[in-house]
Amino acid sequence: MHVKDLWSLKNKVILITGGEGKYGRCLTEALAEADGKVITASPFLDDGQKVAQAFKERGLDVTADYVDQADHESIITLKNKIRDKYGKLDVLVNCAVARPMKTYTSPLEDWEKSMKVNATGLFDITREMAELIAESGGGTIVNICSMMGMFGPDLSNYEGTGWDVPMPDYFFHKGGMFSLTRYLARILASKNIRVNSISPGGIFAGQHEQFLKNYTRKVPLGRLANNDDIKGAVVFLASQASSYITGENILMDGGMHC
Ligand SMILES: NC(=O)c1ccc[n+]([C@@H]2O[C@H](COP(=O)([O-])OP(=O)(O)OC[C@H]3O[C@@H](n4cnc5c(N)ncnc54)[C@H](O)[C@@H]3O)[C@@H](O)[C@H]2O)c1
Repeated sequence: MHVKDLWSLKNKVILITGGEGKYGRCLTEALAEADGKVITASPFLDDGQKVAQAFKERGLDVTADYVDQADHESIITLKNKIRDKYGKLDVLVNCAVARPMKTYTSPLEDWEKSMKVNATGLFDITREMAELIAESGGGTIVNICSMMGMFGPDLSNYEGTGWDVPMPDYFFHKGGMFSLTRYLARILASKNIRVNSISPGGIFAGQHEQFLKNYTRKVPLGRLANNDDIKGAVVFLASQASSYITGENILMDGGMHC
């Protein structure tokens, strides 16, 4: 196959959760620019529709739908809608994240809320959509993890910002997602589904000046991620360009941990 065809997502039906978020918008754009039919789903349908409309105006095939991955019924409704409308699903990108917990001392209820979306909900939507991908003859799953699921917090990043220490649930469920990726790679291989992850570092979003100084001096590439940095990695893992790769994780941190 020609290398351009290996990288193409033409005729691929792609579901991304949280595709209107910070990294989500970059991922949605990449998947649609590679000619995929992209559905972005989240509980914030108005936001999703605004983002989808902006991409549509550029000629990209992006639509928005509703899902709350903490709500099983909404996952089943979305799965049935995709089956009815497209007759298949080729790619799932798990990008959604809920951040109810703020710091180490936050109430346990916030931990539980986080797990409902980021642990139970993540598994629920992945298992249901994997069934649809299997019905379609196979495909790929890309989990958007974080370098924070691989390494402990570097507290010196927060010096002089007045910020509290980062939230513990995030390190827990991102580590779980990293590990679940390898579990699912083995479980779903017989259904012709590959499962990989990307573990990004921080994306630039106008953070506190002192945080940016603390952080970037540890990054060999000298900056946070920009809006283009993740695009190649997701198209690579979603497409046939990575056809013999499963259970793999791409750490995308500008060299911070090399
Ligand atoms: N922002 C960063 O610097 C950074 C760094 C490393 C990894 N990541 C990862 O990238 C992914 C996206 O992060 P972001 O910062 O762009 O997030 P964000 O907060 O900008 O967006 C999160 C998205 O998740 C969706 N969401 C929230 N609750 C949901 C639910 N119950 N069901 C379905 N969708 C739900 C929201 O609608 C939103 O679109 C996450 O997995 C995050 O862990 C982000």
